[in-house]
Amino acid sequence: GSLAEPPVPGTIFEPVAPNKEDAVVVSDGYEQAVVIRWGDPIFDDAPVFDFDNQTAEAAAKQFGFNNDFAGLLPIPGRPNAYLLVVNHEYTTEPMMFRGYNTENPAEEQVRIGWANHGLSVVQVQGEASSGRLTPVFGQYNRRITALTEFVITGPAAGSALLQTSSDPTGTRVKGTLNNCAGGVTPWGTVLSGEENFNQYFANGGQVADPTASTRLSRYGIKGNASKRKWEWFDYRFDVAAEPNEVNRFGWVVEVDPWDPSSTPVKHTALGRFKHEAATIHVTADGTVVAYSGDDERFDYMYKFVSSRKMQPGHSRAAMRHNMTLLDAGTLYVAKLSGSEPDAIDGSGTLPPSGVFAGTGQWIPLLRTNEDGSGESLVDGMTADEVAVFTRLAGDQVGATKMDRPEDFEPNPRTGKVYVALTNNSKRGGSDRPPADSANPRNNNKNGQVLEIDDQHAGTSFTWNLLLVCGDPATADTYFGGFDKSQVSPISCPDNLAFDPYGNLWISTDGNALKSNDGLFSVVLEGERRGETKQFLTVPIGAETCGPIIDDKRVVVCVQHPGETDDASIDSPSSHWPDGGSAQPRPSVVAVWKSGGGRIGL
Ligand code: FEO
Ligand code: CA
Ligand code: CA
Ligand code: CA
Repeated sequence: GSLAEPPVPGTIFEPVAPNKEDAVVVSDGYEQAVVIRWGDPIFDDAPVFDFDNQTAEAAAKQFGFNNDFAGLLPIPGRPNAYLLVVNHEYTTEPMMFRGYNTENPAEEQVRIGWANHGLSVVQVQGEASSGRLTPVFGQYNRRITALTEFVITGPAAGSALLQTSSDPTGTRVKGTLNNCAGGVTPWGTVLSGEENFNQYFANGGQVADPTASTRLSRYGIKGNASKRKWEWFDYRFDVAAEPNEVNRFGWVVEVDPWDPSSTPVKHTALGRFKHEAATIHVTADGTVVAYSGDDERFDYMYKFVSSRKMQPGHSRAAMRHNMTLLDAGTLYVAKLSGSEPDAIDGSGTLPPSGVFAGTGQWIPLLRTNEDGSGESLVDGMTADEVAVFTRLAGDQVGATKMDRPEDFEPNPRTGKVYVALTNNSKRGGSDRPPADSANPRNNNKNGQVLEIDDQHAGTSFTWNLLLVCGDPATADTYFGGFDKSQVSPISCPDNLAFDPYGNLWISTDGNALKSNDGLFSVVLEGERRGETKQFLTVPIGAETCGPIIDDKRVVVCVQHPGETDDASIDSPSSHWPDGGSAQPRPSVVAVWKSGGGRIGL
């Protein structure tokens, strides 16, 4: 209900040129300031960050590493005050500790890694005249780490597949890992996707049982020792010793940031895969649809449709009810067809109609009943198996293998749904699926953005490609039909967000065009549809994450600055944000128009 009126078709700002600056470069006429950095204290009893004397105890009270998703929730009744909720996706120990020995980490370094994962909830105070945000030691501040207790809900809660020696109930998990993107729900909570959880688990290659081994390898849990060696200090990270602990990661988690003592939830009805995120669309009758991509080459797009209806308002009673919305309903996986399949040759050349387009079906995989019981809709798999090994269910029903589905976002103004398909260097390789209508380039280095017109609670949709990313000067790119001489180059779309006017904003990760990553606006409606412009770039080695575009500011998370090939803290390629000879620190940045005013106008 907070959409701005009237709609203005598009954004107006001077695009930022591709560059390799060790800085956040913003469009002319905009100002910026760091909001919070890795290590900044978020409690009044937390120590000031001391890079050379880190401890796990301090880290658990400081802002974590590698900020990814960010949500900004206005605090009712307090002007310009917000909760900033941020994911801390992963740790990069060689960038965190001088002289880090990858073969022999110290226990305290591992514990510092655990404390730097998870999420932060930080109260921030804005000001009337700018978009600046300043952290405060507020009553809502909270750190969630790899050690925070979570409760498991949904059809797989208590399943034998989730039971471990320390949790025979299969309902309580220590921590969340690899929280990549996420979404703020209309009922005031935050969803966060556990993405590349496989990397934390050792000895998957030592599991002999063929069924277990097949399941592990489908999720990328292979080999012997893990890179971080966490299994040395907690055997739950050793798959050979504790086979089911790994099944307790790879979920969509939900956090109630308004109650710092609440136990966050892992929702098994949404399936287990490398969840990039989950984002919500609510239909006219209050049905909740959660969209989520599985970020892996040749993996799938999913949605969950609730059977319960959202209760309006933000009372505690409404919150309690709404936090069960994702525990009853149906999980689907997407299958796409192209309207001109014979015209697809893997080069990215447009088909005769001039647009990559087609239809699709949502194939049901798992129904979760009101009483929490699950019903498998996949031959040969139990409900628990579909929930826990959802990728295998998708394989079985012939879901469409996509080019790494990253963020998945409904447009609050039009209801159309957008998916960032970031890239797929293996498309069309030997023994790999060739290009298809929705993934039209072999050896896809630059990615594409899919636009879906979905019957949200229904099972069919139409789709087209909004963008086929890359250098607009090359023939294999497409910008919604807009004049390609008038757009910014864009590569590897990752996170999506909407401004209050229905413009799409895209942040990138892995720019294959020899520039730093950045944030772009894309016009969706009207004559300027497809107009793509770069609003900012982030420092060397960084990925642009968590974009938020509200009526007075842009917020981006600058993740892994200085993380270039073989980088370590002993020879960093970035000194952002502190400059000089300082070590780089992942940080959140706010950007606003000089003198105030609407972003992009
Ligand atoms: Fe963590 Fe799919 O990006
Ligand atoms: Ca991402
Ligand atoms: Ca998003
Ligand atoms: Ca990414």
